[in-house]
Formats: sequence, C-alpha cells, structure tokens
Amino acid sequence: MITLTVDGIETTVGVGATVLEAARSVQRHVPTLCFDDRQAPFGACRVCLVAVEGAPGPVAACTTPVRDGMVVDTQDERARRIAANVVELVLSELPHAPAEHTELATVARHFRLGAPRWTGAVHPTRHEDDHPYLAFRHELCISCGRCVRACDEVQGTFALTAAGRGFQANVAAGLDEGFRLSACVACGACADTCPTDAIDEVVLLSMLEPEPEN
Ligand code: SF4
Ligand code: FES
Repeated sequence: MITLTVDGIETTVGVGATVLEAARSVQRHVPTLCFDDRQAPFGACRVCLVAVEGAPGPVAACTTPVRDGMVVDTQDERARRIAANVVELVLSELPHAPAEHTELATVARHFRLGAPRWTGAVHPTRHEDDHPYLAFRHELCISCGRCVRACDEVQGTFALTAAGRGFQANVAAGLDEGFRLSACVACGACADTCPTDAIDEVVLLSMLEPEPEN
C-alpha cells in the first residue's frame, strides 16, 4: 500500500493507483475531461492538473502514479490556471457553447469560465444524421478520444478512429462515411461517454433540438 497526502489529508491507496484515485479517496474533486472510469487513462486533455511537491510543474492526476510520501495539492493556483486556459481554448474552438448538461459545460463551470476571451477559428459545422440511432455533430468534437477508446476497449468493435491533427483533429466512423457504413453495432458506448454530445443518441438529440418551424 502507498501512503500520501492530498490537500493535507493523509490517505492510503493500492500500489499502481493514480493521483486522481488518491484524491477521490479523500473526496477531493479534480476535474477531468478525457478520463472515463471505464477506460484506461489517456492523459490527453491536461484538465486534471495538480501540483506535486518537488515536481518541476503540474502533473496530470489521471495518469500519474502515486508514490509513498507524495504531497499533492489539488488547489494549486498555477495548475488551476493552466487547466482553465486549456478548457477556455477548447471552448473557443466550438461554434457555440456546449449544452449545460454535458461534462464539458460542467468543467467550464468548475473553472468559472464564461464566454471565451479569445475569438478565432471555430470548427466547421458538419452533421452525420444517416444512422437510425446515432448522430454525429463533428463541430462539437474536442478530440478527447473517449469514443474511440469506448469502441475499442469496451465494445471491441473498432468502428471509430481518430482523424486529423491539431485544429483539424476529429473522429471518423469507418472510412469517414458515417456510422451506417462503418462496423458500428449501435451499442451507444460512444454516445454514452462523449463529454460534449458530439456523438449523441438520435432520440436524445431530438428531445434537445427545437422542432423545425413550418
Ligand atoms: S466525439 Fe466526443 S468522445 Fe469522441 S473524441 Fe469527440 S468529443 Fe471525444
Ligand atoms: S483527464 Fe487527465 S489528462 Fe485528461
């Protein structure tokens, strides 16, 4: 077992546990975006940054293993500022704010972010509506990779792949021809894990979107 302190609270966790798990063991909240309990940690978004005594800079809580005697500060000002800037940058690239119930909106509220301070290029609107159960709003994709991992690790289907790089990064179903022509078995794991509703179940989307006017 490993003993460490998180925000001054001593905790003991198993060997191989992460800083995020240690924080949760003492009810300390660390925001996450690319992390899903059901998947192996990915460490892509840098939203879960915390300070560790002796470390040269903030570390990602979701991928950093605990050490005996570690001293973790989840409220470190520098770590919070960097993480908040990351989230604000992500928001600034969306054509509109994420729906209030999404994880991205929850994380934005955690950092008390309003409308992004920067305006620049936003992801172009591109909708895939050809599948009876799943819809894809590509412009809301923040490339967290959760849907791809859910498809691979949870369902074992490999219908989704990460596509593009940098600002162009997105996700493709099959050969980017939509869910219907991919290996998708409509399990819904991708929609369930997506933190922005970029992938959503058609029935849920229809409840959120206003009826078109006649
Ligand atoms: S579609 Fe959703 S889950 Fe998949 S990478 Fe984009 S934001 Fe993440
Ligand atoms: S939640 Fe830790 S890096 Fe994304």
